[in-house]
Formats: sequence, C-alpha cells, structure tokens
Amino acid sequence: MKLTYYGHACFGIEIGGKHLLFDPFISHNPLAAHIDINTIPADYILLSHGHFDHLADALSIAQRTQAKLIANYEIITWYADKHSYTKGHSMNHGGAWQFSFGKVKMVNAVHSSCLPDGAYGGNPNGFVVETPNFNFYYAGDTALTMDMKLIPRFTKLDAAILPIGDNYTMGPDEALVACELIQCTRVVGVHYDTFGYIKIDQAAAQQKFAQSKCELLLPAIGETIELRRQEKYKLGF
Ligand code: NI
Ligand code: MN
Repeated sequence: MKLTYYGHACFGIEIGGKHLLFDPFISHNPLAAHIDINTIPADYILLSHGHFDHLADALSIAQRTQAKLIANYEIITWYADKHSYTKGHSMNHGGAWQFSFGKVKMVNAVHSSCLPDGAYGGNPNGFVVETPNFNFYYAGDTALTMDMKLIPRFTKLDAAILPIGDNYTMGPDEALVACELIQCTRVVGVHYDTFGYIKIDQAAAQQKFAQSKCELLLPAIGETIELRRQEKYKLGF
C-alpha cells in the first residue's frame, strides 16, 4: 500500500485501487501550504473525531470527489443535517463493516470530540483496516490505553499510524509502549510539530524506537511511502 502524508494527522492510503483519506486538515496548516487540496484523491474519507484539526477540509474534498465519509454516527448525522452531505457511513465502537477495499473496525480512543460549531461529536475513535494485502491501525487522537491490547487478538498489523506529539495525545514514549500492546513494530508518526505544544525532537524519538527494534517513519509533508506486508518473525519483542 502507499501512504501519502499531508501534514498533522492527515494521510492518504492507496490500496486495492481505492484512495482512503484520513482526517483532512491541510488548508489551515501552515506546514502544508505547498499541498493543493484540489488534487488529493479520495474514494473514502475517514474521520477519527470532530475536532477542527481533523476535519477542516473534509467537506470540500468530499464535495469535489463525492467520497463516502466514514465516521461515528454523530459526525455522519452532522454532515447530513448541517451540510446536506449525505454520502456517509456511520459506525460505532467495536463494530466492523466490509467496504469495497477491505474491512474497517471502529475502535476506542481516549480523547474528546466536539464539532467546530459546538455540536456533540460523539466519541473519538481509531480505525483498524484489514485488506487482502495489508492491515493497519490508525489510532486517531488518543492516550495510551490498554484497549489497544485487544487489536492484535483479531488483526495482525503491518503498520500503525500513531500520534506522537504529546500534550493532546500520546508522546513518543507512550507510542512505543503502544507498539508492544498492538504487536506492531512499524509506526508512522503523526500529530506532531503543527503547533507549539506538540513540537517534538524527531531524531530523539526515532532513536528511541530503534533502540526497541521498532521503526518510526516520519515522511515529509507531501511525501509518499510504500509499505509492504510485514514479516511477523521479525517482531522486536
Ligand atoms: Ni483532537
Ligand atoms: Mn487533534
């Protein structure tokens, strides 16, 4: 699968000929000023919670691409009622659904969620995505939580996209423990450096991961990386 990082917690995944876009927040991110949101492909847009730094560009990209929104019930209802965008698929925690590209399970995240106009945003979540060739977990904004331990009981992960910016979410130390809980040694770090509170020392974080035989990938904004199925016997723990 191919992952393109668009800054903050936004990334696109190309898998099985489909484009999945997660948590689009680009036009308000000064670090992503070189990204043209009008060229971003999307068949599906997945939203982890209602905060502005995760959905600021969701509506405009959805209207242009006619992508299907995948999010919790409250967010999908908000887009339908407030913005007349009805191409949504609502889910709730613990449930999974088979889409054209693979199976998506909505999992727990320990965070908060309200929509930009103050409307109730439901509960924040992460997503576990299983496809024939690649399985991954996007944690959304979350604290380290023991609930992560349930994920590898059902899914062998090939990569995890985890927040590492601290202050609002896990920092690098917690993300490294998360690797152990989810039994996955390959992480793409997101939700860092965008604002003052979440600036991190990237090299120090990558070194910490390497010491635990884990990999912390930090693609540049606009960069595309290709990831293949991970060989499980190489697990570092
Ligand atoms: Ni948030
Ligand atoms: Mn956030």
